[in-house]
Amino acid sequence: MSWNRDYEKSGRIWGENPSELAKAAVQYLKKNKKDKENYTLLDIGCGYGRDAFYLSDNLKCDVLGIDVSEKAIEIAMNTVIKTKKHNIMFQSIAFSSLGGDKYDIVFASNVYQILHLQERDAFRNAAKKALRPEGLLFLSALSTRDPEHYGKGEQIAGETNSFKDEKYLHFCTREEFMQDFGFLDIQELYEQQYTEPRSNGETHHHVSWILIGAVS
Ligand SMILES: C[S@@+](CC[C@H](N)C(=O)[O-])C[C@H]1O[C@@H](n2cnc3c(N)ncnc32)[C@H](O)[C@@H]1O
Repeated sequence: MSWNRDYEKSGRIWGENPSELAKAAVQYLKKNKKDKENYTLLDIGCGYGRDAFYLSDNLKCDVLGIDVSEKAIEIAMNTVIKTKKHNIMFQSIAFSSLGGDKYDIVFASNVYQILHLQERDAFRNAAKKALRPEGLLFLSALSTRDPEHYGKGEQIAGETNSFKDEKYLHFCTREEFMQDFGFLDIQELYEQQYTEPRSNGETHHHVSWILIGAVS
């Protein structure tokens, strides 16, 4: 499995710092004075847990991170042992294998863009099923204005905004989010430009969407 190989080779691929989505989530919850409760938070496609730890350091929450990569989960679990953070758990499972548990927050940073058409559909259903009434979804995904990857590689037949270069990538538009996440009351939807450091010394320039939606 290719993500597992990437983690085997590079470990903490995006370094120790949190993603743009994790920073946006903490900012949103604090601004809306929703940072008082003890949230249950599901981080889908959590990788080696950089966001799970940041969210747990900045919010009162119990976090479950899931990822299909066993290597990513091994790195994350080693950090749990080292830091003795008993409010964070990780499991090596796909979102399609989630049980019936409900969460106050479903969080997914840079996962949606790597999912094929049918998987994106399955992701939305999984997120919907995992959210409590009034729960919040925090999601980031590459924009069609992403300068690093958009239009590179082979265009996927029948999908205007999906390309396969090293990996399959899907790029999102506002219209697509409004249509596909219509089951949520969208609180915020904006594009963000940022640079992303890589463990191999490269710096990537990205434009991503940040979506914050509430179960209505
Ligand atoms: C681009 S990485 C982002 C990792 C992490 N969210 C971060 O920002 O550090 C995408 C992650 O999604 C995971 N993933 C892919 N398909 C998945 C699935 N069906 N269920 C759970 N995780 C998945 C991959 O293994 C990978 O770790």
